[in-house]
Amino acid sequence: MHSVTDYYSATQLRADRWSELREVTAQLAREAPAKIDPTLRSQASELFDGLAEIEAYWAFPGMQVFDHMRRQFEHNSFTELSYSVHRVARALTTGAYRRRHIPLDHDSDDREEHDDEALLSPEVRAMTKPYFEVLIVDEVSDAQEHWLKANVHAMRRAEDPFIYEALVVPSVEDALIAVLFNHNIQAIVVRPGVTLRSKSDHPILARFLEGVAGTDKLNDLQTKDYGPALCRLIDDVRPELDAYLVTERSVEDIAGTELGICRRVFYNQEDFMELHLNILRGVQSRYKTPFFTALVNYSKQPTGVFHAMPISRGKSITRSHWIQDMGAFYGPNIFLAETSATSGGLDSLLEPHGPIKEAQELASRAFGSKQTFFATNGTSTCNKIVVQALVRPGDIVLVDRDCHKSHHYGMVLAGAQVCYLDSYPLNEYSMYGAVPLREMKQQLLDLKAAGKLDRVRMLLLTNCTFDGIVYNVDRVMEECLAIKPDLIFLWDEAWFAFARFNPTYRKRTAMRTANKMRARFKTEEHAEAYAAQQELLKGADTETILNTRLIAPPTARIRVYATQSTHKTLTSLRQGSMIHVNDQDFKGEVEQAFHEAYMTHTSTSPNYQIIASLDVGRRQVELEGFEFVQRQLEAAMSMRRAISTHPLLKKYFKVLSLAEMIPSEYRESGTESYYDPDRGWIDMLEAWEDDEFVLDATRVTLGVGGTGWDGDTFKTQILMDKYGIQINKTSRNSVLFMTNIGTTRSSVAYLIEVLVEIARGLDDLLDDASKMERLGFERRVANLTEKYPPLPDFSRFHDAFRADNVTSEGDIRTAYYMAYDENNCDYMDLDGSLQHALDAGEEVVSASFIIPYPPGFPILVPGQVISSEILAFMRALDVNEIHGYRADLGLRVFTPEALAAQTPQKRLTAAKKLTSNKTAAE
Ligand SMILES: Cc1ncc(COP(=O)(O)O)c(C=O)c1O
Repeated sequence: MHSVTDYYSATQLRADRWSELREVTAQLAREAPAKIDPTLRSQASELFDGLAEIEAYWAFPGMQVFDHMRRQFEHNSFTELSYSVHRVARALTTGAYRRRHIPLDHDSDDREEHDDEALLSPEVRAMTKPYFEVLIVDEVSDAQEHWLKANVHAMRRAEDPFIYEALVVPSVEDALIAVLFNHNIQAIVVRPGVTLRSKSDHPILARFLEGVAGTDKLNDLQTKDYGPALCRLIDDVRPELDAYLVTERSVEDIAGTELGICRRVFYNQEDFMELHLNILRGVQSRYKTPFFTALVNYSKQPTGVFHAMPISRGKSITRSHWIQDMGAFYGPNIFLAETSATSGGLDSLLEPHGPIKEAQELASRAFGSKQTFFATNGTSTCNKIVVQALVRPGDIVLVDRDCHKSHHYGMVLAGAQVCYLDSYPLNEYSMYGAVPLREMKQQLLDLKAAGKLDRVRMLLLTNCTFDGIVYNVDRVMEECLAIKPDLIFLWDEAWFAFARFNPTYRKRTAMRTANKMRARFKTEEHAEAYAAQQELLKGADTETILNTRLIAPPTARIRVYATQSTHKTLTSLRQGSMIHVNDQDFKGEVEQAFHEAYMTHTSTSPNYQIIASLDVGRRQVELEGFEFVQRQLEAAMSMRRAISTHPLLKKYFKVLSLAEMIPSEYRESGTESYYDPDRGWIDMLEAWEDDEFVLDATRVTLGVGGTGWDGDTFKTQILMDKYGIQINKTSRNSVLFMTNIGTTRSSVAYLIEVLVEIARGLDDLLDDASKMERLGFERRVANLTEKYPPLPDFSRFHDAFRADNVTSEGDIRTAYYMAYDENNCDYMDLDGSLQHALDAGEEVVSASFIIPYPPGFPILVPGQVISSEILAFMRALDVNEIHGYRADLGLRVFTPEALAAQTPQKRLTAAKKLTSNKTAAE
């Protein structure tokens, strides 16, 4: 039996234990009773023990059946046992138990070849009623449990849209474990008999429990009335679930109690039908997809098309002699669902009043925002919308320099004064980490000292980064608000939409943090802590402020925006993205400007299929996001484990650990990796609780320098061309494997197989290599792993684009448009004229964005002074793509005359105009 430490999640552990039990019992059934191998028997016994610890948390097969199997085992009824274990294990893998009753006795006439969910056509699967489980929490006897379940069964009606089974656990702890283990659970009924502690004390259970509730939280429960407390605790773990509280206490007692995910309180205990209807309605409210449904209905209506879009209803295709293959490939529905009209039950994305509005409201609930807006052209557009809506010309914006290019262009469009923030570099792997909080605080304090704090509008950060570095969102926002209490935050969560659906990840999302902060800032404890800190910090110098964990004033405004590429991490067609808003001043100050910005960037013909897919993607995450993200994590973790422990793979590859991607000063917990070959899984939780940065475990960066191939060659010539494996991010000596909610165990297994084959190939090559060939290989490896050009910091904006040289913000827009006039620009080649100019101490200023790929962020922006570090980096770069750089001409720079013409006087006038505009506006 695999040890618990080999597993990251209990679901996988359970599946594997059942299939092991299937093998062992099949073997037992084959052997003559007298010849039973005692080791086989003890193996089975161990597996039964192992499963007994976790089976109570699932409705199928249920403890009664499980105990029955155990008795079959004890009575040596191996043939019957083997049959029923086989049926259970199979039903668990195929999902057949979700659709029908699974008879377990040998004589039943059951055709299991129809069981496999994967083999059913999508139409058949769409016809079957979705299945879920209801968790009843109550300490009851076996007979009472039987009575409860029988009552639940008796409520079923043919017209019910879903089907569910119940499982019963006695305590708060068991309930928490159940909602974490069992992703089938969609609703919880908390009854008056609920107790606190679980009778089971298995380590895996303890690990899970510690992760969600923390033993302290349970110890701290002041009350013996555990029902409301449980509803609150589950709210923290799986907020999408519905709870129903059955209580014997009076309405007055319950009213005013914080009830977390509780949707309804029942004072009349045994009204099962009412409960049943509520449970179904709760799930239905997550299941419903207003826009997708409207689109499906629209596609069934007969319509005469007298508007644009000949492809709608497929007419231009069916009548064609030349494009029939398109119709055949896509099938008819997509064209039936195409229209340029906003009537017929549909809605307009630009002015939504109907199903799009409702779909956005449901998305807002699912992602914990106050308002959510759909976008059909990616997060690139979402970023520009948010920036335009909030940033006025001349406002100062703090931006992480290695953010996505849409932000840089957004700054140009908005006319922002940009203050670039440097991320910590990972020179060894030629990639950047993320911006240390100290850097943000320093910049804010500098701006404050220069009297410019009132012009600082926004802080813009990428969470998580492409490489998977995740910020401590709470800490960043609170400490920055302590310096600038009305600062607006834009978190680019292009890669982080899925994070909402895992309890650990959720804590580092913008929306969840904003909600928590709103609540926290209202508490007396917060006000007291703030006042005490203010006392302590009276007269404190900058260094002390930088070293103190600052507390924001209770009056600070929560103004948080997040943009997410739903299509990158969840189910949505390409370009489906969302903007989530949690801004206390949205209605009063932003709404109109937001609307204008949305109009500026949104097409008047938004793609309906994308909107529908966003709606369905939201349904999915509200019902199975938890399960899918859990599985994704399991897949990524098993990949980490397989690569870190395989002796051959270790020779050429290295999974970059936390310690390698996050310097120790940002890892207060001291956690160095998520998996250690000697210790198994290291708990992520401690790191995720409070470290300045953590690593998204679903992204695995693999160091490939040991193979002698650079990242790009490894990606295109080895993985893609030879094995058909697609990835998109590489660095000089690494490649990034991203898992997603669709990643399966077998795709991970295939990747490992491929890596092993590559490693074997290298072994063979080196075995037969001549001395010179071997030397060549070693040189290539050394070049990739030991010699790396240091990543340059942002130098500075040239004085021509700065109002003063006290603080670092620069006018990127003026620089950008100055380059439109060819007379202002010149070209310099890297090795010749540019090098000479820098050697001679001249200031040379870039006229365009220069974006080498990898690493894929601008090392130069318009108006930026070219430093010798930047030039050295560009010269050392051995990448094929440098966007913005013309190899035939060189680097586009501003002429000294153009820079001189941008006189201080001109800048001064511009700055004055800004200030007077602002004053007039106020
Ligand atoms: C951090 C970040 N933000 C925004 C985007 C743009 O997203 P989209 O492709 O949805 O326009 C990307 C794309 O890779 C990204 O990496």
